[in-house]
Amino acid sequence: MANLAGTRIAVTGASSGIGKAITRLLVKEGAMVFGLCRTIGEVPEGAARVSCDLSQPKRIEQAFETIAAAEGGLDALINNAGLAWSERVCDGDLERFAQMWQVNVHGLVVATQRALALFPESGGRIINVSSMSGHRVPPSGGFYAPTKFAVRALTESLRCEFASEGLLHQVATISPGFVDTPLLDRYFEGREADLEQMRECTPMLQPDDIAEAVHSILTAPPHVNIGDIQLRPAGQQA
Ligand SMILES: NC(=O)c1ccc[n+]([C@@H]2O[C@H](COP(=O)([O-])OP(=O)(O)OC[C@H]3O[C@@H](n4cnc5c(N)ncnc54)[C@H](OP(=O)(O)O)[C@@H]3O)[C@@H](O)[C@H]2O)c1
Repeated sequence: MANLAGTRIAVTGASSGIGKAITRLLVKEGAMVFGLCRTIGEVPEGAARVSCDLSQPKRIEQAFETIAAAEGGLDALINNAGLAWSERVCDGDLERFAQMWQVNVHGLVVATQRALALFPESGGRIINVSSMSGHRVPPSGGFYAPTKFAVRALTESLRCEFASEGLLHQVATISPGFVDTPLLDRYFEGREADLEQMRECTPMLQPDDIAEAVHSILTAPPHVNIGDIQLRPAGQQA
């Protein structure tokens, strides 16, 4: 997809942070963007707003039915939506763990299956937003890091399945370090002073930095399979 004009792309979590920046950039590039999330009023102008709770498989199905009815197909899916609490595995809130699993992992799989059914035979593209916490477990990784390891493993499973079936679809992961978005307020719950200090002292990644990485994957030549882009703010140690 050298040129994104007219390309049909679904972005999950389009109402905030990274997903919002991705949506804005793709709209600017002329893509037909479907922003999937619960807070649809926050989806940037120019994108189609599609209500979708990723913890509810039925709602995901309905969202993709809406896309099929509007455009008849889809060329790319950006699995960006995610939740992050850093509570410890040993005594953290199991309800929060279930929510993270449903949105970060199971919802991503359901959305992927639905998108694949709409991809053209000439090949569609999937980009899964994992995290540096999907590469190594930081001390505050809790149950969030395992969900992001799963996202990275899912990318590899899909890549192998496409290759073994001779399908032309492409799948990639993006693994950011700290990005300045509302997600960090939840992740640093109970450690607000640490977050404040980090925001003051460390130049964090901005959502637009991740959007640029998405753009470069989407516009790579079809014979180039990008596996994973790791982005850390300069100076992030781990
Ligand atoms: N910020 C970071 O430092 C960082 C680092 C590495 C990786 N990431 C990953 O980047 C992705 C985006 O994070 P962000 O930082 O942009 O977070 P954010 O600003 O908190 O945005 C999260 C997005 O996920 C959506 N979402 C959450 N629960 C949902 C549900 N049940 N159904 C549908 N959508 C749901 C939200 O939409 P609604 O609430 O409107 O539904 C929102 O648009 C996540 O996968 C995150 O793990 C972030």
